[in-house]
Amino acid sequence: MKKIGKDFLWGASTSAYQCEGATNIDGKGKSVQDLTLPVKDKIDFRNASHHYFHYKEDVKLMAEMGFKSYRFSISWSRIFPKGTGEINQKGVDFYNNLLNELLKYNIEPVVTVYHFDPPLDLENQGGWLNRDLMVNAFVQYSTKLFELFGDRVKYWQTINEHNMIIQVGHVIGVINPKQDNLFKKLYQINHNMLIAQALVTRKYHDMNFKGIIGPAPNISYVYAETSKPEDFDASYKANAWRNWLYLDAACLGEYNTIAWEWMVKNGYEPELREGDLEILKKGKADFIAFNYYNTSTVRASTKIGSIKFSESDQQTAYDIPGLFDLCDNKNLPKTEFGWSIDPQGFLHTMRAMWDRYRMPLMVTENGLGAYDIVEEDGSIHDQYRIDYIKAHLEQLKVAINEGIDVIGYHPWSAIDLVSTHEGIKKRYGFIHVNINDNGEGDYKRSRKDSFYWYKKVISTNGEDL
Ligand code: BG6
Repeated sequence: MKKIGKDFLWGASTSAYQCEGATNIDGKGKSVQDLTLPVKDKIDFRNASHHYFHYKEDVKLMAEMGFKSYRFSISWSRIFPKGTGEINQKGVDFYNNLLNELLKYNIEPVVTVYHFDPPLDLENQGGWLNRDLMVNAFVQYSTKLFELFGDRVKYWQTINEHNMIIQVGHVIGVINPKQDNLFKKLYQINHNMLIAQALVTRKYHDMNFKGIIGPAPNISYVYAETSKPEDFDASYKANAWRNWLYLDAACLGEYNTIAWEWMVKNGYEPELREGDLEILKKGKADFIAFNYYNTSTVRASTKIGSIKFSESDQQTAYDIPGLFDLCDNKNLPKTEFGWSIDPQGFLHTMRAMWDRYRMPLMVTENGLGAYDIVEEDGSIHDQYRIDYIKAHLEQLKVAINEGIDVIGYHPWSAIDLVSTHEGIKKRYGFIHVNINDNGEGDYKRSRKDSFYWYKKVISTNGEDL
C-alpha cells in the first residue's frame, strides 16, 4: 500500500478578512468586506478573530499541533490601501512578521493572493468588470507580493474559489445580484479574472522562483440522480459548468467547450480581446489547490428561461435551465448548516481532477461548520469535527494509494473565524476563539478535542486516525 509521503504538508487554513480584524488601523484600506451588504446583516468582519493581534500565539498553537504548513491569504488593501499605487509599509511588516514567525517553527507558508476581499477603491471604479483597471492592479499587487515574500513562500495560490465568486458571489458579498444583464456581466468578470490569473502565473514563472503557483477553486463532483442517460448527461454538464470551466482555463489554458456553448446560447459569453487565448495558454498552473466540502446531485433539466438563485450558498447551488436541475441526495447526512457530508465524494473529486489534469493536488479547505459548545471547564468536545475529518482523510489515503499525487491537506480552519455569511457561530477551527456574533468575549484561544486529535494524526503522518 502506498502511504502518505514524509514531505506531506499537514496544516490548516484561514483567510485574511475572516480572521485578522484590525481593519481600521495601521494604514489598511477598505475592502468590500468592510461594507455592510444586505446579505451580511449582522455579520461583522471588522474584528473577526483578532488574528492580527494574536498571530504569534496562533502560530505557536499551530506549531504545538505539529503543522508542517499553514494556508492563509494576504489582504490586498492592507498592502495597497487603494488597491494600487502607494504601498502600506505596516501591512508589509505584518506579513513579514507572520512569515518569519511561521518559519521559526518550520511551518511552510501556503499563500493565497486573493480571497474574497477586493479593495473598495477598485470596486468603486467598476471592480473586475473594469478589465484594464483590475487586471493591471492585480498583476501589480501579485508581482509586489512575489518580490516581497517570494524568498520565503514556495506555494502560491492566485484566487480563492474563483468559481464561487461567479456562481454565488452575492452570498459571499462580492457581487451585487441586482444588476441588469447580471449573467453577461458575471461571465465577463470571470474572463477578466482568468486573464489576470494567467498573467500573474506567467509573471511568477518569469521571475524564476523555486516555488509553484496554481488556482484554488472549490471543486466538488456532481453526481447524476439516477442511471438514466439524460441524468448522466446533466451531471456531465453540471461538472463542466461548476468545476471544469475554471480548471480547464487554469490548467489547460482553454475554455471548456460545454460551458462556452452554454454561454453563447444564452448570450452570456464574454468579450475576448485579440491574444486572450494565447495569454491563457502561456499562464498555466503548476498544481491545483482545491477546496472540498461536499458533492451535489442533479437530474435532467426541466426548466427554461432565466436562472433563479434561490436559497443557495457555496455548497447548495441552483438549477441551470437547459443544463441541469439540482436535487437533494437522500443518501447523504447533513451538517447543522445543511451541507451534505460525503467523504467518498472527496475521493471521486480527486480522481476526476487527476484523470483530467494529471497535476499535483493540494487540499486547501475541507471541514465542518458547527455550533460548538464550551463546557463549564472550558473543554470543547467536537467529536463531529473529528469524525468528519477522519472520514475524509481515510479517502485521501485511498487516493494516494491509487497513485494520485496529493501533496498537502489544510482543513478549514486553523482557528475559529467568521463564516462568509453565517457569522462566527458557525465554527470550523481546531482552536477556539472566545468571541460571539454580538462582539462579546475576550478573544482568548483554547484547544478543542479536535486539536489534540489532529496533533496525533500529524505526529503519526496520518497512520493513526
Ligand atoms: C469556502 C471559502 O467557500 O468555504 C471560505 O473559501 C469559507 O472563505 C468556507 O469560510 C466555509 O464556508 P462558510 O460559508 O461556512 O464560511
